[in-house]
Amino acid sequence: MCGIVGCILKNNEKVAPILLDSISKLEYRGYDSIGIATVDDNKINIKKDDGNIKEVNNKLDLADMDGNYGIAHVRWATHGDPSKINSHPHTDENEKIAVVHNGIIENYLEIKEQLLNEGHVFKSETDTEVIPHLIGKYMDKGLDLESAIRETINIIEGSYAIAAICKEEEKIVATRKNSPLIAGIGEKGFFVASDSPAILKYAKDILYPEEREIVILTEDGIKIKDEYDNYIDSEIIESKIETIDWTPEMAEKEGYDYFMLKEINEQSTAVKNTLTGKEEIKNIVNELKDEINRICFVACGTSYHASLTGKYLIESLAGIPTEVIIASEFEYFTNALDDKTLIIFISQSGETADTLLAIDAANKTSKTLAIVNVVGTAATRKADYVIYTQAGPEIGVAATKTYLSQLAAIYMFSFILSDKEYMIKELEKVPEYIDEVLKDTSSIEEISKKFKYADDFFFIGRGYSYPIALEGALKLKEITYIHGEGYAAGELKHGPLALIDQNIPVVVISPPGENHKKTMSNLAEVQSRGADVFAIGSCDDDFLISKSDDVFCISPEVDELIAPLIYIVPLQLLSYYVAIERKLDPDKPRNLAKCVTVE
Ligand code: F6R
Repeated sequence: MCGIVGCILKNNEKVAPILLDSISKLEYRGYDSIGIATVDDNKINIKKDDGNIKEVNNKLDLADMDGNYGIAHVRWATHGDPSKINSHPHTDENEKIAVVHNGIIENYLEIKEQLLNEGHVFKSETDTEVIPHLIGKYMDKGLDLESAIRETINIIEGSYAIAAICKEEEKIVATRKNSPLIAGIGEKGFFVASDSPAILKYAKDILYPEEREIVILTEDGIKIKDEYDNYIDSEIIESKIETIDWTPEMAEKEGYDYFMLKEINEQSTAVKNTLTGKEEIKNIVNELKDEINRICFVACGTSYHASLTGKYLIESLAGIPTEVIIASEFEYFTNALDDKTLIIFISQSGETADTLLAIDAANKTSKTLAIVNVVGTAATRKADYVIYTQAGPEIGVAATKTYLSQLAAIYMFSFILSDKEYMIKELEKVPEYIDEVLKDTSSIEEISKKFKYADDFFFIGRGYSYPIALEGALKLKEITYIHGEGYAAGELKHGPLALIDQNIPVVVISPPGENHKKTMSNLAEVQSRGADVFAIGSCDDDFLISKSDDVFCISPEVDELIAPLIYIVPLQLLSYYVAIERKLDPDKPRNLAKCVTVE
């Protein structure tokens, strides 16, 4: 969804190499085009083009630009094709100002029309270009960069994280609304960025600006103006600094071919880290338990699938009515909420626009809890309570380790809520089971060679295995571009069975437990229609092994209640290896971005 970085270095050091390095760490947010602008000798220099960072850098040598302050952008196109002219940074009429932007300016057409009438000439098809034109217009009336940006954000509507430079002022000015922006304090200089992996190498002390605050970076430090345009006291700013404990290495591939594979392999550590949050979860549950009689999970995509597992757990273990709503649909269900409802928002990024809008709506009536991976993000500031999943940075666009961490947090929450804290012991064994699955994945690599030609897949499971089927299908779709559909195993015969033949492989998820026999009947149903069955189940299950064409065996045996935390791993690997077989980059699926900051 686009990534931005701004940096000003002390001691006149050249900023372009650092901007290039930092923006490269945000490539998971957009990879249609890249651009950098610096100021040198009272002149704005811009290098930008469409293509991924490597391609554009080979062509333009992006690090070779003079100047000690500048801005950078990776784009995920929304308004206008990926092209050089539509790439950021964009400039004003007189090329005095350059701007990078993440978000969408909803009223840009009206603004553009007015500016065109005033004689402005636009170069691109983007919504963003109105921003530098407005800033330039106000600066031409005598305002400085900060004040011109204030005037501009009073006019634009929508979502934005903006960083701007001007050739006449040695500073970077940034602001945000409904889009993420952090500010970083480093030894060499000062930063703004869409997300912390961009600046981990250079700055550990982080500030999280509030909406419509104006952040001003100079060689001397960071100043912030509140939304009424008053400077915030430096002591208050200092008290808000948070030091991040993520290391730069965490955002590197460390010998793996792709981040996705690295992150799949980090899942046992991620779950262990999540489990260290038990006491915080206990405190939250103790505070809320007697106050609520209903729970509602709200999330998108993979986080929605983690939420569905939460419904199975809470209804069966705690007997509390629980529903799950897709965040973008939440606004249609707000009438029946009350202060006895706890609304739990699941979001790895903490910045998903649909989820943030749902938190705002929920806060009006109900208690809100956010389960989030990235510290200090908007969801954590909006919700009444926060649980951090502590999975570490996830760079691959497809969520893997953050999903398992969400599940681990939801399991702990459900066990504690249902007075079954003793069951957390079962969770403590999960990291070991995950490592066991990861020990030998050669059979999945083999199977992926056969399945890479398929056009459609079904994934089926019952009970706790149903959300795994949905998540397995989503992973397949997003990184292999093969159509995958997750179905409740018992529901297949109510329609989709008509589609099943020898051309559609069916992945059957069937851990030992109450549902196993019924799922085996569903396996037989698809097999008798000619489907190629790939089953994930227990190594001790002779029936499943003898009936399936291919099997991935999970050992030691885990019950279906715990199975989601382990059985998803072979499905993530299946998608990963099929993507590799199809020569696709699993870290950067087409049309997708890591953090979806538009509705
Ligand atoms: C899929 C994926 C997306 C996200 C969804 C919500 O692999 O990553 O479906 O799960 O966009 O994102 P968060 O959890 O950041 O709110």
